[in-house]
Amino acid sequence: MPQTIAVLDFGSQYTQVIARRIRECQVYSRIYHCTTPAAQLQADGVIGIILSGGPSSVFAKDAPMPDRAIFTLGVPVLGICYGIQLMGHLLQGRVARSEHREYGHGMLTVRKPGRLFAALPKKLRVWNSHGDRLIKLPPGFAAIGRTENSEYAAIEDRTRNFYGIQFHPEVFHTEHGVDVIRNFILGVCGATQDWTTKDYIRHSIEGIRATVGRSRVLLGLSGGVDSSVAAALIHKAIGRQLTCVFVDNGLLRQGEREAVADLYRRNFRIDLRVVDASDLFLRRLQGVSDPEQKRKIIGRTFVAVFEKSLKSIGHADFLAQGTLYPDVIESVAIGNNPAALIKSHHNVGGLPARMKLKLLEPLRELFKDEVRAVGSSLGLPREVVWRQPFPGPGLGVRVAGSITPARLEVLRRADAILQEEMMDSGWYWKVWQSFCVYLPVKSVGVVGDERNYADVIALRIVESRDAMTADWARLPYDLLQKVSSRITNEVRGVSRVVLDISSKPPATIEWE
Ligand code: XMP
Repeated sequence: MPQTIAVLDFGSQYTQVIARRIRECQVYSRIYHCTTPAAQLQADGVIGIILSGGPSSVFAKDAPMPDRAIFTLGVPVLGICYGIQLMGHLLQGRVARSEHREYGHGMLTVRKPGRLFAALPKKLRVWNSHGDRLIKLPPGFAAIGRTENSEYAAIEDRTRNFYGIQFHPEVFHTEHGVDVIRNFILGVCGATQDWTTKDYIRHSIEGIRATVGRSRVLLGLSGGVDSSVAAALIHKAIGRQLTCVFVDNGLLRQGEREAVADLYRRNFRIDLRVVDASDLFLRRLQGVSDPEQKRKIIGRTFVAVFEKSLKSIGHADFLAQGTLYPDVIESVAIGNNPAALIKSHHNVGGLPARMKLKLLEPLRELFKDEVRAVGSSLGLPREVVWRQPFPGPGLGVRVAGSITPARLEVLRRADAILQEEMMDSGWYWKVWQSFCVYLPVKSVGVVGDERNYADVIALRIVESRDAMTADWARLPYDLLQKVSSRITNEVRGVSRVVLDISSKPPATIEWE
């Protein structure tokens, strides 16, 4: 086992972000439930403990409490936010309720750098989110940093190697936050940096083998980054015990089905079953123009087709999904994590309850960029690892209004031209998404000497970090002009190309 830093989870939204920051320092970390017995942490050879933040107050009747024996293991402890309050509360300091929660930026003044703030600036912009605060130091502790609102925003007990900080070092908005974490795990805990993507893959493969045993695993492959990396990883772990199902819903882009089949069969020798259900999907979608209704029909039909295809494939015990951590945090409280449920996500849950399959989600703790690193390391080509997101309902939400085979064909041809030009110019890799939308709006054009009364293609090209917000990409006019003239010249049924210059919010990235 690699050296392990334990993160005790008290229900913070950021627990996984702490684990991720530790991985960034190339150190292995494991998230434990907040009440895990100290003896278990000791048995696991833990070399440092981080107490996460959490939504609770130490004064609450059902406030989550750790096993007090963690403070007698002789292992360094870092308390973050709720974690520092726990230290105050359990180690004979004093915590006070605050009238107001303190959210957002604060300025930390470092009084004594010690090991935690070694080589960092004296003033740091930090991000806070807390109600209670420490008002009396526990015996043995000294204050090493303060903010406007707290004399004890950072504390240390150098003899026992206990540290507490009121702010969140794990979030992006805290300056040098990752350095504070690095100082703790390397400087205080003495961890060696022995945890890389390759180690993650090896560890994950062992985990998959142990979980799956000799059982069979099914995976619904979409061709997107997440399901592709999950497939490659699981295949490396259990080979032919994995069967992938790729459903052609008739709403794919030009050449997509062939490209996916080719990649997985030829390059990875994965057992891939392609199910052509395009007729069924298009039949069910006939005459439907309401976006939500379309999405529901596509979702339901997918489940039905998947279930039916299982009958011919045979029994399986596991359903694998490429669920990532951001999908999870918005959907469920993971691993008994008391974190509040934010919203249900389309990828998570749903299928397995009806199908009596156990879930296998090897990427569940990772963030998108980490998944990409795993994909590259597994040898997936750049086109897959860095491919732009494509929505589950596919072109179904890119043909505005009702969907017909003819409209899909026009959209496919226009979209292929846009992708070709984006690739040729290198812009494909610089933007978040670039695609065409088919608008069933007739407009007049002129071709040769003839009137051309045809439909409109909108170009949607956006920049974004995480799809939560987005802005339209400022592409060079020459490139836009080339795309526009190629589409109007080469695609019959299009008389006009328009550019969508809406940001998100208030618009969304997809049109439906
Ligand atoms: P919106 O349109 O909400 O899209 O701004 C945000 C991001 O999510 C993608 N998207 C989906 N992905 N299933 C998916 O897997 C869906 O139903 C779905 N709807 C939108 C969209 O392409 C963008 O990247």
